[in-house]
Amino acid sequence: MSNTLNEIAKAMVAPGKGILAADESTGTIGRRFDGIHVENTEPNRRAYRDMLFTTKGIGDYLGGVILYDETLRQKSADGTAFVDLLNRNGVLPGIKVDAGAKPLAFCPGETVTEGLDNLPARCNEYVKLGAKFAKWRAVIDIGADLPSSTSIAANAHALARYAAICQEAGLVPIVEPEVLMDGDHTIERCELVTEWTLNAVFEALYMNRVSLEGSVLKPSMVISGKKCARQAGVEEVAERTVRILKRTVPAAVAGIAFLSGGQSDEVATAHLDAMNKLGNNPWPLSFSYGRALQQKPLKAWAGSAANVPAAQAALTHRGRMNGLAALGRYSAGMESQA
Ligand code: 13P
Repeated sequence: MSNTLNEIAKAMVAPGKGILAADESTGTIGRRFDGIHVENTEPNRRAYRDMLFTTKGIGDYLGGVILYDETLRQKSADGTAFVDLLNRNGVLPGIKVDAGAKPLAFCPGETVTEGLDNLPARCNEYVKLGAKFAKWRAVIDIGADLPSSTSIAANAHALARYAAICQEAGLVPIVEPEVLMDGDHTIERCELVTEWTLNAVFEALYMNRVSLEGSVLKPSMVISGKKCARQAGVEEVAERTVRILKRTVPAAVAGIAFLSGGQSDEVATAHLDAMNKLGNNPWPLSFSYGRALQQKPLKAWAGSAANVPAAQAALTHRGRMNGLAALGRYSAGMESQA
């Protein structure tokens, strides 16, 4: 496997840097816009992403940005393609290539991620448009009798097929198996399910000849279900998460960049920092946050050009905090100093 994939993967999670997940589909960004009473139109989506990507100095804490198909083709207000704008700031552009989680036959309440049909052709087009890496999200739900082994196997297989197709086209795959934090399950159960999922994913990657050096893993953290009575603290989340990652993720993987999955922005930062403070990890541990990076900038922007400086300041702050957490150099006191 070429060095290029490994070099791209390393740049995505270079020391003190992580990834901004700005790849919300048109439906998902619509739900975010509902929250700020902004209409979900193409010009508004473009203006919002333009605000994010023209933030000065984003290359200081971002190695990559994940885009959605529409965004990969859009331009900044001055006519510069978003892809060129990001490259100029030292940030690699990536692309979400999955077609979403769809009901899994014979498995009520479970999904499998679709999008393998025509994926080689789509990857070739994305490479021409300037994408350097891709993302595919699999969703594993925890319930009384969930997940099923059927869902674990189907999702691991799809992730591995996707990763192999990406690498053949020259894209670094972000492999994202998300164990949802919805529900009342304990952190112990989250740990078991996450360990099971990651074992299945890495076996499937091996069977599909995927280069680990040319891949980035995007896992969820081991945390208590949102509605569980006992909410584990920051240290416990960090210790349990790193413990199962060490059991399941080969050291050859270029990097691990967590999703935030509905955690509040400051908690997501504190968890990442605590894992890095444990030290002695064989891979860089960084972030690939969507909501945890965008909540505050989105609210500050609220659809108005006049708010762009305040929204960009909010993104800069969150990005810097997470960049420090990726090095284990964050403290909660830094939040108020800003
Ligand atoms: P969140 O950090 O909001 O979970 O989004 C990350 C992502 O890319 C989900 O696929």
